[in-house]
Amino acid sequence: MRWLLVLGLCLTACDDTIIGGGGKTYTPDWLGTQVFFVDQCIRCHPTVEPDIDLPGDILVDVCEETGIWVVPGDPEASMLWRVVSDTGLESDPAVMPFGTGPLPEGQIDFLREWIATGARVEGCP
Ligand code: HEC
Repeated sequence: MRWLLVLGLCLTACDDTIIGGGGKTYTPDWLGTQVFFVDQCIRCHPTVEPDIDLPGDILVDVCEETGIWVVPGDPEASMLWRVVSDTGLESDPAVMPFGTGPLPEGQIDFLREWIATGARVEGCP
């Protein structure tokens, strides 16, 4: 009957199960990006650190093509990618999530891919 115990534990603790090197993974699209923000970022943005409202500011930035946070097709030029990927540059803000980042590559690669493939969004205001 031991498997029943294991199954029980898994139902309560396995929503972050090991896929691709541990931790949760996200789809390289706008939906995946928003889920990522909910999991990793919105506990501070905009409440603790209001300079950026996630995901709202990203949506506006992409829809209005301002390029402040995201430059579609160019992750390295995108501040959003730079803050999660730890560029190591003094001139860049601290790596995010603040205090605990950087996240494992397997968890952030999707973001690079989403930006590189054009950063398509749905629901422009
Ligand atoms: C524990 C709180 C916390 C979490 C979680 C967090 N941040 Fe931050 N964030 C901060 C703080 C504090 C700053 C200001 C850091 C600085 O000035 O060096 C900041 C700054 C930023 C900036 C730069 C803003 C500017 O004005 O240039 C961006 C972009 C950013 N965060 C994105 C994110 C993203 C994306 C995530 C999720 C992966 C995230 N943050 C998670 C606290 C947090």
